Amino acid sequence: MSHISNILVTGAAGYIGGSILADFLSRPDLIATAKLHAVVRSEEQAQALSKLSLNVLSFKLEDEAAVAAAVEQNKIDIVIHAANSSDDLLVTNLIQALGRRRTTSGKRVYFIHSSVTTLFSEEAGWPYGMLKDTDSIYEREKELGGSHPIRKANLLVVDKAQECGVTSFNVVVPNVYGRGKGEWRKVSILIPALIQASIRLGKVHKFDVDGHPPATHISDLVALYGILVDKILQNEDIPSGKNGYYFAMAHRAPWWAYMQAIAKSLHARGLVADAELEIWPSDEAAAKALQFPAQFIRAMGTASGGLEPVNPRRLGWQPVWNEKAFLESADGEVEDVLELDTIRTGIFDKVMRPATD
Ligand SMILES: NC(=O)c1ccc[n+]([C@@H]2O[C@H](COP(=O)([O-])OP(=O)(O)OC[C@H]3O[C@@H](n4cnc5c(N)ncnc54)[C@H](OP(=O)(O)O)[C@@H]3O)[C@@H](O)[C@H]2O)c1
Repeated sequence: MSHISNILVTGAAGYIGGSILADFLSRPDLIATAKLHAVVRSEEQAQALSKLSLNVLSFKLEDEAAVAAAVEQNKIDIVIHAANSSDDLLVTNLIQALGRRRTTSGKRVYFIHSSVTTLFSEEAGWPYGMLKDTDSIYEREKELGGSHPIRKANLLVVDKAQECGVTSFNVVVPNVYGRGKGEWRKVSILIPALIQASIRLGKVHKFDVDGHPPATHISDLVALYGILVDKILQNEDIPSGKNGYYFAMAHRAPWWAYMQAIAKSLHARGLVADAELEIWPSDEAAAKALQFPAQFIRAMGTASGGLEPVNPRRLGWQPVWNEKAFLESADGEVEDVLELDTIRTGIFDKVMRPATD
């Protein structure tokens, strides 16, 4: 590497973005060649991150001019977008800003998006069945069109990046679990919500169908982002754009068995009346209890999806956590939720806002 690269992480106060930054900061090899920048959206978050050896920025990703100025002034070469998988405006602003940066610097620029595996399940309307990340995913997504907000963003990433001369990658994220290492939000989304709802209701629920969705421990997930950044910094030509999907799946999450382990842990702590599981009375009741968008809940709770990660493995990604370790981690997850789940996720706010808002 002849120059120091500048990496901007969005969603830096979040579970995934914060954990990526913590991992990068712990790697002397990486920080010798790259300067880290983090964007957050509150003063409290900025203060929490200010103790880290990185440049904390506070601007609105919705503000095109502010994004362009931040990318230009900080000479950003790589954006890791971990703030929102479905907001077109953020994707557009970030990629356009990188495109302009490429023109002024004459250097290659990169955008790493974070998407969602559930999108590729039958329950979410994916009609093509079993899928490798080396298959023609972009073409199939194009065929289906952008009616799903996450698919729309996936397509936009490829199209906008191509238009602006930006090299893009799409890390397709499964259910993530485990204690995050960021400075702000340290827990994931679905499993903590299931635990919190169980405590509120005094009963652990499961969906009427036993899903086995893809899953990955947070430490394995951040390792994949790290590998991608290493390859970029080493100027290696790796699959990108239409071919740049990376299924970040380590193993499956057998939901009923896992919820049974959660019930056992909560019961042992006196937080639910018994260790028996009850079926959710309806998907609507589950959505309400979990405070998740009703349109996504069926897929989130019951999807399995047949995904095979090929691209990450080819880059040398070797997840450490497996299904057995996942099941054994349920008690630790309860402990983490009780200790650390103090900051709610805002990722569904826009989807759940009433149309009149
Ligand atoms: N965790 C999982 O299991 C999982 C699975 C699949 C995909 N994903 C995707 O990965 C991404 C990150 O997830 P996460 O678990 O890290 O969620 P998270 O803990 O809620 O973090 C998201 C972060 O992004 C910020 N953010 C959200 N919308 C923003 C906006 N419009 N402008 C600026 N910042 C914004 C949030 O800011 P505030 O703190 O101010 O709200 C938060 O700090 C999400 O898109 C999610 O859909 C996550």
